Amino acid sequence: VLSVSQFELAALSKLFAVADEMKQLVNTSGGDDRLKGRMLATLFYENSTRTSCSLQAAMLRLGGTVMTVNEATSSIKKGETLQDTISCLCRYCDVLALRHPTEGAAAEAVAVTRRPILNAGDGVGEHPTQALLDLYTIMAEIGAVEGKVITMIGDLKNGRTVHSLAKLLALYKCELHCVSPPALRMPESVRAEVAARGLASLTESESFDAVISRTDVLYVTRVQKERFASEAEYESLKAVYVITPAVMALAKQDMALMHPLPRVGEISEDCDDDPRAAYFKQMENGMFVRMALLALLLGKSEVNSSSSSSMSSNGGISSSSGGQNGSSKC
Ligand code: NCD
Repeated sequence: VLSVSQFELAALSKLFAVADEMKQLVNTSGGDDRLKGRMLATLFYENSTRTSCSLQAAMLRLGGTVMTVNEATSSIKKGETLQDTISCLCRYCDVLALRHPTEGAAAEAVAVTRRPILNAGDGVGEHPTQALLDLYTIMAEIGAVEGKVITMIGDLKNGRTVHSLAKLLALYKCELHCVSPPALRMPESVRAEVAARGLASLTESESFDAVISRTDVLYVTRVQKERFASEAEYESLKAVYVITPAVMALAKQDMALMHPLPRVGEISEDCDDDPRAAYFKQMENGMFVRMALLALLLGKSEVNSSSSSSMSSNGGISSSSGGQNGSSKC
């Protein structure tokens, strides 16, 4: 799972149906044993709380095990290449989640293994599993995407979650508004991909004043400090937008306020008790969606599935590999 571009509507509806089942499973019995004997490796070269922990929780709740690689104490520090690290780890595990500061790193990983790879964030590139849980949350909160107004605000240049989410929302006829300072605009490549689908409209502005009262989903993002070359530039941009109860007073009564988290001041804590604040539900949904992804990728989306093939029952997620598997690959 490298990019949201691998997902079409049928795969999304299969994934979300399985995620609904996972939610019910967790709420009724905490989980089951369908991934017994399977191991997830998590290899994170960048910080993470939710993505890393929800993937681990997802695997453990389905009876699997987790191997967590500590980048700081691993041979990565001796200069081992990403491809060698992946080639080795894949001989221990069945599925691997990778977070890396370089765009395209997950695609490099896929080139050296037959194991499923989950892109858990590749620099400023994509964060597909986050966008999947975001879309699942949007549907749960406002019912549907068609005809809705989704406003993304903040660091749209460096925020990989909004890159993936915009591409995913492009599968629907909806309005996307991108609100950012000129220096943090949504990249041209993402805008072009949305336009090429021809369904969603995408507009940009520096202020949310004209759109806030029409917005169905307000998706707020953190200014990505770690991507700035200059501390001064980050300081000048970090607090351009802050969502407060005064802003929420301008919004629809049934709007959903979302954020991939962590927040560092973009949504004031005074908003947390507003019934429209969906960010904690959003992160909880992350575990259900990642349980569904792991089950589908490992051919265990049906509780009593005897199939162990990820090819026949992966829910229609199109393959991200070149398919040219050399004999040395695991
Ligand atoms: C995001 C990320 O890492 O891209 N966090 C997450 O995975 N929920 C957003 C961010 O760090 O701002």
